[in-house]
Amino acid sequence: MNNIPAGKEKGSFVKKKFASVTRRYDLLNTVLSLYIDHYWRWVTTRELAAYPDGPILDLCAGTLPLSCEIVRQIPRPVAAVDFCFEMLQYGMERRLRSSAEKRIFPVCGDGQSLPLPDNTFAGITIAFGIRNLTDPPGGLKEMIRVLRPGGKLVILEFSRPRNPVFAPLYRFYLHKFLPSLAGLISGDQEAYSYLAKSIEAFYAPEELASIMEKVGFSQVKYRPLTMGIVTVYTGIK
Ligand SMILES: C[S@@+](CC[C@H](N)C(=O)[O-])C[C@H]1O[C@@H](n2cnc3c(N)ncnc32)[C@H](O)[C@@H]1O
Repeated sequence: MNNIPAGKEKGSFVKKKFASVTRRYDLLNTVLSLYIDHYWRWVTTRELAAYPDGPILDLCAGTLPLSCEIVRQIPRPVAAVDFCFEMLQYGMERRLRSSAEKRIFPVCGDGQSLPLPDNTFAGITIAFGIRNLTDPPGGLKEMIRVLRPGGKLVILEFSRPRNPVFAPLYRFYLHKFLPSLAGLISGDQEAYSYLAKSIEAFYAPEELASIMEKVGFSQVKYRPLTMGIVTVYTGIK
């Protein structure tokens, strides 16, 4: 794969790749981020902790790591939506054990066309998912549709560090080291070359924030974490 697939082709490519790495996904997240991914999801969830009551939608929920962090921090029901059945199933088998986790309701569905009614959720989270959508602005329109007026969207997504010393080191890690190691562990190097290319091709934080505003979110804010490896975005309907 030299370029990132687009349109419908991207959707089926992404679904196939996540199905192929499902069993190694959580381990690789932890190894490749040196466990820092747990902190990123903790920060993302904190954005909703002091927020008004009501159900949460965790979009692109994958193997449910963020859904579990949400029910651990706040006593709310969580609808966990993902279009890759294998990822959801693995998460359900591995994670839904404690009574808190019984508040997670997995739904196999497409974030571009959510099988959910308007004005339903008090909060929406999407961690490392928006970059994978075929049409991120279209996905944001779906999110605002299912969010209640006053509800909060929290996005966690990779970004590109800008520090002139750190940025080239990170790019070497992302493009050379990561695909080789992840390919070895998961057996699918292409999935992790896609990860690197999709991070390079994704919007800069100020661009994504401006799209959020155009779609109708207000009070849009964003802040980099861990030298800008990821960025957390928030917006209110
Ligand atoms: C990198 S994983 C993130 C999983 C989880 N949120 C986490 O924090 O680790 C991205 C997930 O987005 C899902 N995804 C990508 N495009 C989607 C779409 N259009 N609708 C629903 N899920 C989608 C993939 O199947 C995959 O499980």
